Amino acid sequence: MMQKDSRIYIAGHRGMVGSAIHRKLLREGHDNIIVKASQELDLRNQQVTADFFKEHKPEYVFLAAAKVGGILANNEYKADFLYDNLMIQNNVIHQAYEYGVKKLMFLGSSCIYPKMAPQPLKEEYLLTGLLEPTNEPYAVAKIAGIKMCDAYRYQYGCNFISVMPTNLYGPNDNYDLQKSHVLPALIRKFHEAKANGTAEVVVWGTGTPLREFLHADDLADACYYLMQQYNDAGFVNIGVGTDISIAELAEMIKDIVGYKGKIIWDTEKPDGTPRKLMDVTKLTKLGWKATIQLKDGIKEVYKQKFDTN
Ligand SMILES: NC(=O)c1ccc[n+]([C@@H]2O[C@H](COP(=O)([O-])OP(=O)(O)OC[C@H]3O[C@@H](n4cnc5c(N)ncnc54)[C@H](OP(=O)(O)O)[C@@H]3O)[C@@H](O)[C@H]2O)c1
Repeated sequence: MMQKDSRIYIAGHRGMVGSAIHRKLLREGHDNIIVKASQELDLRNQQVTADFFKEHKPEYVFLAAAKVGGILANNEYKADFLYDNLMIQNNVIHQAYEYGVKKLMFLGSSCIYPKMAPQPLKEEYLLTGLLEPTNEPYAVAKIAGIKMCDAYRYQYGCNFISVMPTNLYGPNDNYDLQKSHVLPALIRKFHEAKANGTAEVVVWGTGTPLREFLHADDLADACYYLMQQYNDAGFVNIGVGTDISIAELAEMIKDIVGYKGKIIWDTEKPDGTPRKLMDVTKLTKLGWKATIQLKDGIKEVYKQKFDTN
């Protein structure tokens, strides 16, 4: 169990996930948290990562550093998504073993599942079919991360665990339209259209894909819970267990933002996986459940990011 004074390293503490974990640890009274921005510590570099572990000897590690992006970025920068993510996770997981880290949590994502896997996605569907081509390199890296944790557990007895969150949103999300995920991209598009008095907002795809969204603070709560409670191979899905269509999501955000114009669906653009809903039976049995309602969460992030009132 992590103690209040345990040395805890959060890799990726400035990101949406890492910052939520950071806030959670501070709220829980942890006072020995180690953080470094990528400019000071590039985790793709084996030597500097080894030097960092040698100097700081963390006891617990949350591995939330990764190269992350939406369909556009994933599709265009395939080499970077594969290389950066493999390097970051290989270096951190291996050095965690070298320096006797008591427990490490590796964060993956729901894109690890086969494109046509049955829904909702159960943990056992991993590696049962072909991946979604647009984010295959990212998914391959994340699958390698799960297997690394399991292999180090098996060969060296390391208590390294993996969790796979569904689509997230929350403070410190990426609102750059070239790199962002669907939810922040929609918030920004509707906000700007309202501010500029634009009559129409063009949204990618058909609006029919079904997606699940979890608030980053709920995720951080689940990560904290599992870091204290879960000590096994394999991985745990983290989600809310319900999904909505992109069209419904767009209407919800349009309403929250107060945009009065029209939504135009650009059906030439790719939809991605038709449905992505996590089966959260394992997580529920372990004793954790999400609490933040989607509408409330979006209202809060919109207010934080754009609302001028
Ligand atoms: N966002 C989602 O919807 C979502 C969903 C499921 C799972 N996840 C998973 O959660 C994890 C974190 O995602 P996120 O959304 O928090 O991403 P994010 O906001 O883009 O943050 C990524 C973090 O990784 C760090 N990083 C990137 N390259 C690095 C490098 N070479 N060396 C050191 N640090 C580096 C960045 O550090 P600096 O800021 O210092 O540059 C940043 O803090 C990922 O594993 C992702 O797969 C995210």
